[in-house]
This record gives sequence, structure tokens and C-alpha cells, in this order.
Amino acid sequence: MYFPKLPLTSALLAGWAIQTCSGYVPQERSDDNSQCTKTTVAIMGGGMAGITAAQALSNNSIHDFVILEYQDVIGGRAHHTKFGKDKNGDPYTVELGANWIQGLGSPGGPENPVWTLAKKYNLKNFYSNYSSILTYNETGFTDYSDVLDEYDTHSDLATQQAGVLLKDNLQDQTARSGYALAGWRPRKDDMKAQAVEWWNWDWEDAYTPETSSFVFGTAGENLTFNQFSDENNFVIDPRGYSAIIDGEANTFLKKDDPRLRLNTQITDIKYSKDGVTIHNADGSCVDAAYAICTFSLGVLQNHAVQFEPELPLWKRTAIEKFNMGTYTKIFLQFDETFWPNETEYFLYADPTTRGYYPVWQSLSKDTFLPESNIIFVTVVTDQSYRIENQSDEETKKEVMAVIRKMFPEKDIPEPTAFMYPRWTKVPWAYGSYSNWPAGTTLEMHENLRANADRLWFAGEATSAEYFGFLHGAYFEGRIAGEEIAALLKDDCVVIQGTKTCGHRPHYEKLKGTTPLRNYNFFNGWPVSSFYDASE
Ligand SMILES: Cc1cc2nc3c(=O)[nH]c(=O)nc-3n(C[C@H](O)[C@H](O)[C@H](O)COP(=O)(O)OP(=O)(O)OC[C@H]3O[C@@H](n4cnc5c(N)ncnc54)[C@H](O)[C@@H]3O)c2cc1C
Ligand SMILES: *[C@@H]1O[C@H](CO)[C@@H](O)[C@H](O)[C@H]1NC(C)=O
Ligand SMILES: *[C@@H]1O[C@H](CO)[C@@H](O)[C@H](O)[C@H]1NC(C)=O
Ligand SMILES: *[C@@H]1O[C@H](CO)[C@@H](O)[C@H](O)[C@H]1NC(C)=O
Ligand SMILES: *[C@@H]1O[C@H](CO)[C@@H](O)[C@H](O)[C@H]1NC(C)=O
Ligand SMILES: *[C@@H]1O[C@H](CO)[C@@H](O)[C@H](O)[C@H]1NC(C)=O
Ligand SMILES: *[C@@H]1O[C@H](CO)[C@@H](O)[C@H](O)[C@H]1NC(C)=O
Repeated sequence: MYFPKLPLTSALLAGWAIQTCSGYVPQERSDDNSQCTKTTVAIMGGGMAGITAAQALSNNSIHDFVILEYQDVIGGRAHHTKFGKDKNGDPYTVELGANWIQGLGSPGGPENPVWTLAKKYNLKNFYSNYSSILTYNETGFTDYSDVLDEYDTHSDLATQQAGVLLKDNLQDQTARSGYALAGWRPRKDDMKAQAVEWWNWDWEDAYTPETSSFVFGTAGENLTFNQFSDENNFVIDPRGYSAIIDGEANTFLKKDDPRLRLNTQITDIKYSKDGVTIHNADGSCVDAAYAICTFSLGVLQNHAVQFEPELPLWKRTAIEKFNMGTYTKIFLQFDETFWPNETEYFLYADPTTRGYYPVWQSLSKDTFLPESNIIFVTVVTDQSYRIENQSDEETKKEVMAVIRKMFPEKDIPEPTAFMYPRWTKVPWAYGSYSNWPAGTTLEMHENLRANADRLWFAGEATSAEYFGFLHGAYFEGRIAGEEIAALLKDDCVVIQGTKTCGHRPHYEKLKGTTPLRNYNFFNGWPVSSFYDASE
């Protein structure tokens, strides 16, 4: 502690003239925002990161905050809808966004916080068996499970080799070259091997091995599936996956709490060393001492929100550098389950196009939605963009042609229901989740994560450890909330051994030599080595 604590609330009410650790004393600001709602912390977005940030503030006795959310619900990309009909004519609930709890936890080891929440709210979820898979090509069932095993062998070696690069802070490469060095070299015309690779890499990263970082892609997978556990549970709850986010929100928000503003589209963010003023499409505005922007990388890349002043070059470079992938689930309901009803996954190798309707998933299985006769197929990124520009009818025709090839012995009728989201066009997401591009250093990621004056950034994409995942959003929301709470209490966080209050490190010039983060645990949650947990 550098400076004596000021009485918090009175200091905040007095135009936030609180003394920060750096000795900087913000002045009372000119009154052009007099009609704006005043608050201490504005949280932009009510997804996992936003709600967790608000809860972290609440837990630290900061109750003066406002959450601004575009949609009429919270939950963000944990997003479900109704689909098809059950025997009584009632629709099923299916997840358009996040669907698995990935890496649960092991006895005595760290636990994925999303798993903790799933247990707390009795979220209906079941073991997803990645070994329950049958393989197909354009001639029907054809067993290439040996290729699946072969991939796994090379993958284990690749993970070891990526670990060395990570540990010694060496030059990154593409996942393509990293895997080739580990002995996995699928020929371009070996469509079975291409399908197996897609199932293992693209299906998770939403990008090809050519575009993905070898080191951080592998480390991310390791931190989720080795650190927590290698289990994936599939969420199939009639309340939707977002029930855990609703549940946590209800721990600190009252019914109709005025601090949660739904249906509020932010259009402009004015930030400075003194605070942040936010303007919304409905003409309302919020004037805050600090703000946390939890918008997806897609929203930032699409310039859907204007920043004033323009974000600094180091920040804009990072925003443009990382990749926003799209992951599209295409749902079909039939009047019977004509596929093997105990199997979870069906992998299809198209004879000409890699990634053409490759992974099929049955919901009709015993533990999921038994007898629902629902199956869905997933495509990502380039194939997603292609089908997002097609009508449902055009896509349905392609999808049906594939499934008829997979089961040539069956007489397959048209589906009774058909639906898919177009994530790239969703104005509050512009894509599904981020991916770490090849040859991109931790410095660049620190720049994505760093604050610009009093404007903080948090969300799935700002997690170096768990980018892409719901738990990444959880940790990042929590850390941002904790940091701002500490600042407001005039506490300092220790960054790289120095008390640098109020700023996350950023690099004006990228040299690519950031010291490696250690994935330390502090109170059960990972913190980077920038934060000295012992202080
Ligand atoms: C198809 C798909 C599949 C996925 N599968 C999994 C999975 O199986 N497991 C897993 O762990 N993760 C999965 N994810 C990723 C997971 O959903 C995200 O990592 C997580 O939900 C991100 O949370 P967040 O708070 O960072 O961002 P978001 O959930 O995007 O929250 C940001 C919020 O900001 C709001 N917002 C945006 N623009 C504005 C604006 N202008 N004004 C006001 N509000 C705005 C949005 O409406 C949103 O609620 C998947 C995602 C998708 C899309
Ligand atoms: C807030 O505190 C509650 C109760 O201790 C805890 O369950 C929750 O995980 C905390 N949340 C955050 C984001 O710190
Ligand atoms: C997963 O599926 C495989 C293949 O069908 C099966 O052998 C295995 O027992 C299943 N595992 C579990 C836990 O159900
Ligand atoms: C992944 O985890 C294994 C086992 O803990 C470790 O040996 C390897 O170095 C790790 N690799 C990466 C890239 O993190
Ligand atoms: C599809 O599988 C069949 C049976 O294994 C095989 O004869 C055929 O060559 C495969 N097609 C391609 C494009 O590999
Ligand atoms: C699968 O099909 C068999 C045989 O028709 C049937 O006995 C079983 O109940 C079905 N299982 C599910 C989960 O639908
Ligand atoms: C596909 O793109 C074209 C050209 O941009 C556009 O005119 C058309 O409406 C799009 N179709 C769909 C279904 O989105």
C-alpha cells in the first residue's frame, strides 16, 4: 500500500478525485456529460466476462456499477434457442453458442470454474464421448479409425515439442509446421487424414493448422485439458447453458435491478485518464470512473463501436492481428433416428473439399435428448462464411446430399426441422470465438489485453491461457473486476515485480521477447507471473 485509503464512496461521489498510487490526481471534469448516469464502473456487455466482473466488484464491496447489454438477455455467446418438436409438440432447447464444459477438474487439482458453476446450478450436462465416433466418406461407412489413433500419437509428441518452445520463449510457428516436425504430414489428397485433422484441430480452433499458432494453440489446449481434466461434458439443459450466468447474476442483482440495462446498444466510448463516457444508440449515456469493455474480438474488428480518441496504434494492431473464428452448428430433426442411435459422433471425409460438413453429432442419444431424432453438423470459418451467404434451402440441399452419401442403405426423408445461426453477421458478436494466429507473440496478446487509460478490456479473447473458452471469459472478467476494485481502494497490484498501479503492461514496440507467463495459482484461479501472488 503506497497511499492511505480514502473513504471510498465519498471520494467516488466527489467526481472521483481519488488519489491513485501513481500520485495522479484526476480533476473534476467539465460538465458536458451532466445528463449522463454517473457510476463508478461501467461494464460493457453482460456475457460471462461482464457478469463475472460485476460479481468480483460486488464481492469487493463496490456496488456502484452499471452493466450495459445490447440484447434483451444476459449470457452473451452462451446463447440458446428453441428447435424442433418433442412428442407433445413442445420445442427442444439447443445451444447456438457454447455447448461443452471443457476440462472439468480432477480430485485435489484445479477445477474449471464453469464446472464448479454447472454443479452449483444443477446444469444438465453429460459426458461427451470423443471415442464414440464412426467414420464415413462419400461411399458410406468406411473404417479409418486407425488414422484417428495415428493423429493422437503425433499430437502427443507435438505437444511436448511445443512445450519446449513455450518454456524457452522460442520462435512460434504454424501448427502445420509444428505437427509436420512431429511426424504428422497428411497428403492434401488424403481426405480421410484431412477429415481426422479437421476433427482434431479445426473443430476446436475454428481455424486451419496453417493459420493457428503452434505454441499457443497447443498450450491453450494443454491448460484446459491437462490442467483441469481431459473430459468434456455436453450441456443439454432446457434453461440453456446461460443458466449458470443467470444464477451468478442473481447473487448480486435484485429483480429489475436498475444497474442492469438490457436492450442497450453502445455506439461510442470516450476514454481518458479521468474516466470513460459511454453513449448508446437510444441517446442515453453513462459517465464512469472506470469501464470494462467485454465485447468480442469480432465486435472490435468490425468497428461496431467508435472509440474516442481512436485507440492507440499498439492496441489497434493487436485487435487486427488476432483471429475471430466462426463455428456453425446446423440442426436437423427427422421423424426417425436412422443413424446408429448409441453413437455420438460421425466423421465425414468429403472426396474433394476439406471441412465440407465433416462432424455430425447425434442428440438422439440416451443421455442427451433421447428419441428427439435431432442431429447436427458443424462447419467453421470459410465454410461458415459460404453457407451464411446461402438460403436455408440451398444449405439444406447440400447437407442432405452428404448425409444420404453417409447412409446409402437408408431411404432418408427430408428433415422436419432445419436451422442454423449466422454468427458472422450477429451485430453483438461478429463471429464465434477468437483464435491465436501463428507467429504471434505474447507481447501482442498483452497489447490486446492492456487497458487504454481507464478503459479495461476483458473477455474470452484477452485470456492467454484459455482464449476461446467460456472459462477464459470467466477468469478475465474476474481479474478485471479485481484489478479495478484494487485501484478504487487505492491498493496496488504488483506487475513484474513493480507496483505499477492502474496499468497493465503494453508494448509500443513489439520485439517478441516478453518473458513467459507462469501459470501460477492464486486462491484457486490462475494468474500470470505479472501478478505476484505473494504480495
Ligand atoms: C458457436 C460457439 C460455440 C462455442 N462453444 C464453446 C464451448 O463448447 N465451450 C466453451 O467453453 N466455449 C465455447 N464458445 C465460446 C464461449 O461462448 C465464449 O468464450 C464466451 O461466451 C465469451 O464470453 P465473453 O463474456 O467474453 O463475451 P460475450 O459472451 O460475447 O459477451 C459480450 C457481451 O457484449 C454484448 N455486446 C456486444 N456489443 C455490444 C454493444 N455495442 N453494446 C452493448 N453490448 C454489446 C453482447 O451482446 C454480449 O452479451 C463457443 C462460442 C460460440 C459462438
Ligand atoms: C464472489 O463471492 C462468492 C461468495 O464467496 C463466490 O462464490 C464467487 O465465486 C465470487 N465471485 C467472484 C467473481 O469473485
Ligand atoms: C466411449 O465410447 C467407446 C466407443 O463406443 C466405448 O468403448 C467407451 O466405453 C465409451 N466410454 C464411456 C465412458 O462411455
Ligand atoms: C503440455 O503438457 C505437458 C504435460 O504436462 C508438458 O510436458 C508439455 O510441455 C505441455 N506443452 C505445452 C505446449 O504447454
Ligand atoms: C472412400 O472409401 C472407400 C472405401 O474405403 C474407398 O474405396 C474410396 O477410395 C474412398 N474415397 C476416397 C476419395 O478416398
Ligand atoms: C436404440 O435403438 C434400439 C433398437 O431399436 C432401442 O432398443 C433403443 O432404445 C434405442 N436407444 C435410444 C437411446 O434411442
Ligand atoms: C449473398 O451475397 C450476395 C452478394 O453480396 C447478396 O446479394 C445475397 O443477398 C447474399 N445471400 C444471402 C442468402 O445472404
